[in-house]
Amino acid sequence: MKKKVLVARPTFPDVIERLQQYFDVDANLGEVMPQEELQLRLADKHGAFTAGDVIGETELAGAPNLKVVANMAVGFNNFDMHAFDAHGVLGTNTPNVLNETTADFGWALMMAAARRVTESEHFLRAGKWGKWAFDAFLGSDVYGSTLGVIGMGRIGQALARRAAGFDMRVIYHNRSRLASDIESALNAEYVSKEDLLKRADHVVLVLPYTKESHHTIGAKEIALMKPTATLTNIARGGIVDDAALIEALRAKKIAAAGIDVFEGEPNFNPDFMLLDNVVLTPHIASATESTRRAMANLAADNLIAGLGEGPRAGNPPNPINPDVLKK
Ligand code: GLV
Repeated sequence: MKKKVLVARPTFPDVIERLQQYFDVDANLGEVMPQEELQLRLADKHGAFTAGDVIGETELAGAPNLKVVANMAVGFNNFDMHAFDAHGVLGTNTPNVLNETTADFGWALMMAAARRVTESEHFLRAGKWGKWAFDAFLGSDVYGSTLGVIGMGRIGQALARRAAGFDMRVIYHNRSRLASDIESALNAEYVSKEDLLKRADHVVLVLPYTKESHHTIGAKEIALMKPTATLTNIARGGIVDDAALIEALRAKKIAAAGIDVFEGEPNFNPDFMLLDNVVLTPHIASATESTRRAMANLAADNLIAGLGEGPRAGNPPNPINPDVLKK
């Protein structure tokens, strides 16, 4: 008999068809499920395909057959990994395939914030463009400025590579310092978080969300930044204290921000909407057709292999907690 898997959110139909070759698939093709429905539909499953759905102790305790949960995202802060370990359930994610696409988008948000792209477009669309003016929508330069990357993993490094084309200095802060050959290749200087905030013209956040990274940027940190600086968050909601950022943008303590991820998303702080100096996007940094397809297929590869099927049976490409595979 085929093993049972839940596809918790809509995904590409051909990816669901791939899963159907191996499994009896219960696919949610509609809205995001309330948590109770997710728990109910998970209860008899051996595996699950998720995209940001919360999987913790309650979900795992209620699904005794569950062996693998494959998240279609590189970030997995929606998984309680202590509970996964305790229940012997494998969690997987989708690293690497989204690095360049996500870095492109970080660049787009940073540029849009620095050069006031959406703010000036709103002005134009509102029919307010009466004349060309020397001082209209003056922004801050990106070319030749200093990029500060907090979280210098794969995506942070992809951002740093882009900076070379803009003749930028790159400074970074990370839990651990990069090997010196990587630093030299990226032309990146390791600095403290405080130093980075003081020196960078454009700060981009690309670190994972953990208990430790909660509110990495709050009022105290923003106070260190230049009044002309921008802040871009393509990492996770919760890394920035959104209320503090809103206050700082309102008081023009920094020039602008580009924000793709929010505390409590999709129910983000509505005060963001009152500000002109922030570019707001709905968590789409990895959203290109080819990258989202690659992520969905990689999540499927992980689920198929993790449940002992397909060409990589028993050897999923991206285990988060590989120790459970040894048991
Ligand atoms: C998207 O946010 C991801 O973690 O892949």
